[in-house]
Amino acid sequence: MDIANQIKESIDIVDYIGRIVPLTQRGRNYFGLCPFHSEKTPSFSVNPDMQIFKCFGCGESGDLISFVQKYQHVDFPEALEILAPEAGVDISKFKYSDPEASSKKKLYDLYFRVADFYHKVLLSKHGIKAQKYLADRGFSKTVWKNFNIGYAPKENNFLTSRLKEKYTSKEILESGLTKPGQLSDKFYDRVIFPLKDTRGRVVGFSARIIDRFDKRPKYLNSPETPIFKKRDNLFGLYEASQSIIKKDFVLLVEGQTDVISSHSTGVKNIVAPLGTSLTENQLLSIKKYTDNLYVAFDSDLAGQKALIRTADIAHKKGFSVSAVNIPYGKDIDECIKKDPKLYISAIKSAKNVIEYLLNKLPTETIAQKKRVLSLLVKLITGVTDPVTKRSYIDTVSDFFELTSETIENLTKSTLKEDFTETINEVVHKNKGIMEREKYYLAILIQVKTLRKKSNFVKPSSLQTPVLQKILAHIVKAGIKTTPPEKLESTWKLLKVYLLPSDDLTILEADLKRLVKEIKIRKIQSQITTLKTGLQGRETTKAFNRLIKRLALLKNE
Ligand code: UTP
Ligand code: MN
Repeated sequence: MDIANQIKESIDIVDYIGRIVPLTQRGRNYFGLCPFHSEKTPSFSVNPDMQIFKCFGCGESGDLISFVQKYQHVDFPEALEILAPEAGVDISKFKYSDPEASSKKKLYDLYFRVADFYHKVLLSKHGIKAQKYLADRGFSKTVWKNFNIGYAPKENNFLTSRLKEKYTSKEILESGLTKPGQLSDKFYDRVIFPLKDTRGRVVGFSARIIDRFDKRPKYLNSPETPIFKKRDNLFGLYEASQSIIKKDFVLLVEGQTDVISSHSTGVKNIVAPLGTSLTENQLLSIKKYTDNLYVAFDSDLAGQKALIRTADIAHKKGFSVSAVNIPYGKDIDECIKKDPKLYISAIKSAKNVIEYLLNKLPTETIAQKKRVLSLLVKLITGVTDPVTKRSYIDTVSDFFELTSETIENLTKSTLKEDFTETINEVVHKNKGIMEREKYYLAILIQVKTLRKKSNFVKPSSLQTPVLQKILAHIVKAGIKTTPPEKLESTWKLLKVYLLPSDDLTILEADLKRLVKEIKIRKIQSQITTLKTGLQGRETTKAFNRLIKRLALLKNE
């Protein structure tokens, strides 16, 4: 008998699946809630006579081995490997006869060793600078250990020279941990965050500079290999899994350090993609643990757009999506640094994505209302889970004082137009004042010719304090010198702020419009101040002067 059949003979499928999905007997078959799609009434059945499963809801079906493949997202040989110990079957002969499996095993082994090297360096006297860096960021020692954080030292070819003792040059080059085609280390003087798969095996590394004057790229990742696909991996998922199951939701953030900071506060059900937007495969790997996704992205414009996109693909995979409003700083990490309580209470007051967007997007004028309604209806159209859909529809109908039938009909009649267009329309057309001011500064910082041509507005004309300071810095010192530390994170954001076009004529026109806007707002606020202040002859004169200037500006 072949190995697959031996395994199937030895393990009862009802017994095995029953440990993952609670099953109740009905007739000859057993029923439970399907682990492959979300449902409220059981349509997932297991047949003990034929040793197979089938879901009448989503159509998934197969035997024990294909169940493990689907449930654990592994291939056929890996499923056998998982089941073999329980079946008491020896698969070692089989494993090594598969050349791909054996080369993968070598890689797992190598990555495990490397993580261990780097971790030991961190804890040694060569790692003192890195230890200080991690401690300053507030990462506890327990967290260093749980995440196997390491340090690639300032020693030429520290890693390659050690790997040579056990591996051939070919194997070392294929590991992806050297500079391409050279037997020299890829990582040098960086903290190392190991990336793990869902079974906890190290499959890659993300390495960060520790000196803020270090001019090299902030993060460097190890490349894709047969055991590591960047777009399938989620940072922190392995460490989060137990907590996700217990709390029945997962927090999704943008940065790996946000995940680590969060663990330091005791919140462990949190994951981050590796610098890309969330993919369907990543959602599927989360779905094994929960159907509830809490998104905590930056509160800026890009963050809002990413939230809407993420919600849309998650809805289509049966998730219900909530959004967490980070009350301080540019990301969770900064918020936790300020006060962990702020972070915890932000999670508690997370709102479903529809309610969140209704609070966030402007809905004062009829035109704005229509735009927002159209965006939300499109978002709801993609929701596959009926309970989530119902509750979203209720939220929208309450807000706009329309009946749920009206909203429901709208979701049915929505054509599959370009969703991205709607996002752009709603989010961009309604940029807040701060966002407009950022855009103004971003043009000045990023486009030299326009900076040279432009007469800067007075820093005090801006309404956002931190942006006032940055403009003052530009006026005084130009853009070559970095402003004081407090302003640095905003400064960096502005340097990479995504301009809507690289066409100079478009940017120049925008710049003109922005300057005019800022001046008008300034005068309007001066007028308001005067109106609420004392009345007198001087005031009236000043008032008239302002009104005149305002009229002139508006006609420009
Ligand atoms: P951020 O720049 O927001 O980094 O990039 P961060 O997570 O806040 O990092 P700290 O707090 O400065 O340490 C978000 C994510 O984008 C990827 C990383 O995965 C990072 O977590 N990234 C960023 C890169 O891959 N390369 C980079 O140079 C920068
Ligand atoms: Mn950060």
